Amino acid sequence: MMNEKEHWNKIAPSYNDEIFDVFLSDKFKRLPKYFKKHAGLNKTAIDFGCGNGKSFPFMANLFKQVLGLDISKGLLKQAEQRGFTNVTLKQADLTKKKLVLPKADFAFCCNVIMFPVLEKNHQMIDNVYQSLKPGGTALIVLPSLDSAMFSALRLIDVYKKEGIKPMDIPKNEFDYFKANKRDLIQGLIHIDRVPTKHYSESEIKVIFKEAGFTVAAIDKLEYDWDTEIASPPEWLKDPYPWDWLVELRK
Ligand SMILES: C[S@@+](CC[C@H](N)C(=O)[O-])C[C@H]1O[C@@H](n2cnc3c(N)ncnc32)[C@H](O)[C@@H]1O
Repeated sequence: MMNEKEHWNKIAPSYNDEIFDVFLSDKFKRLPKYFKKHAGLNKTAIDFGCGNGKSFPFMANLFKQVLGLDISKGLLKQAEQRGFTNVTLKQADLTKKKLVLPKADFAFCCNVIMFPVLEKNHQMIDNVYQSLKPGGTALIVLPSLDSAMFSALRLIDVYKKEGIKPMDIPKNEFDYFKANKRDLIQGLIHIDRVPTKHYSESEIKVIFKEAGFTVAAIDKLEYDWDTEIASPPEWLKDPYPWDWLVELRK
């Protein structure tokens, strides 16, 4: 397995085609509401793992200063080209112990704390905690284990309606659930062949409390079914697939 820096620099040129766009897909536009709730023109914000800066059009106008951090220089270069004058960018491996970061009022982190080496997730959560001022808020988007299971169940339902029994569904439909039980229990599900940490709601409560945060809310960022199932039928409606949107206070 490549390290994260090589992996993300390699993806950078085709990032917009390959990587799921949370902001565009956020079906009920919940993210902008949370940004507004915590915004302030005298407040500073950090986007942990900002990628090519998709959060900036939403955040830059709402805060005095935004710092975007990412491991990939290729993505940071694209982020810079967005041209926001109150956004600064810095390359950093956010899984490193004891990172020295400026203190911010607000932290945002969207689909980054999902490393298959689970220790790295804890390390990164600690770095987010350390970088927040007391009373500050962190907004974290995380893959949902429950959503992955539910989407697979709905796929079985779709086949059933077409007269195909669960046993007869092509095996590759469920390739993202690898056979290793220990991996499954720990929420390791494959997205585009990359093992990706997924979270249950209860686990979120445990790990963020252990990191020192108060969990203020665990909300859903819901997406259309076509993000999970190719050509979903008309009758497939809510509940929709989702990522967790976690609101935390220091
Ligand atoms: C799925 S993308 C999400 C990007 C952005 N937050 C968004 O929602 O559009 C994951 C991002 O995490 C960054 N990343 C991965 N490992 C990292 C690490 N160890 N330190 C800092 N950034 C990392 C990648 O370069 C990539 O930009």
